[in-house]
Amino acid sequence: MFEPGGPSFVELVRQGLSSTVHGYDLLAPKFDHTPFRTPDDVLGRVVEHLRPFGPFGHALDLCCGTGAGAGAIRPLCERVTGIDFSEGMLAQARERLGDDPSVQWRHGDVFETDLGGDYDLVVCFGALGHIPPLEQPQLLRRVRGVLREGGRFVFVTHTVPPWTSAARWAAEVFNATMRVRNALIKPEFIMYYLDFCLGDALPRLEAAGLEPTVVPLGLARAPRFYIVDAKAV
Ligand SMILES: C[S@@+](CC[C@H](N)C(=O)[O-])C[C@H]1O[C@@H](n2cnc3c(N)ncnc32)[C@H](O)[C@@H]1O
Repeated sequence: MFEPGGPSFVELVRQGLSSTVHGYDLLAPKFDHTPFRTPDDVLGRVVEHLRPFGPFGHALDLCCGTGAGAGAIRPLCERVTGIDFSEGMLAQARERLGDDPSVQWRHGDVFETDLGGDYDLVVCFGALGHIPPLEQPQLLRRVRGVLREGGRFVFVTHTVPPWTSAARWAAEVFNATMRVRNALIKPEFIMYYLDFCLGDALPRLEAAGLEPTVVPLGLARAPRFYIVDAKAV
């Protein structure tokens, strides 16, 4: 549906009707051929932003999926740990980065699993839409809790697109469809757009003890996107 090797429409529907975990298990072998994987040019921008502040000791990639983010930041770090609750996605991540001893994978829910601690850097790419707004403060407190003083939580988000844009309508229609789907079918597939946009994210970070700096992503095709670099204070 997206590109050669990507999932068909029927496969996507089947995945969307599964739980979040099982949906990603099903999607995993084809995930890298979908637009849901954070694109390399976006990861490249984040790496260029981080480079002057590195090298970093231990980094954590929250909701690491197939390991694209962990792979991108790995050259800047001594060690990287990736965590995800989909075994299928972690299997792809292991395949991507092989037996690199500086990378570790942890299977579990970011709300329930011991995330370890004393990280210099925590990143999260393309996954904040899976965290319901009411649970975001809890996740941010967890992130703050595992960062050492002065450590960074870095992610990419965007401003809310205006109602005049196709992107806004696409996101609103998707969200409405997911609300109906989740009201009718259990277990739920939790994924909503526009839930951790810049305007919402900044006060939530500050409330969690993370001091955000906002830098334009700098890609012409994504003018509303920003790198948020939040320092543990
Ligand atoms: C859209 S993918 C993004 C993967 C990767 N970070 C990237 O940018 O390509 C979202 C990932 O978040 C994981 N995920 C969602 N909610 C999670 C949770 N509560 N705990 C752990 N992993 C979670 C899913 O399994 C999936 O691999």
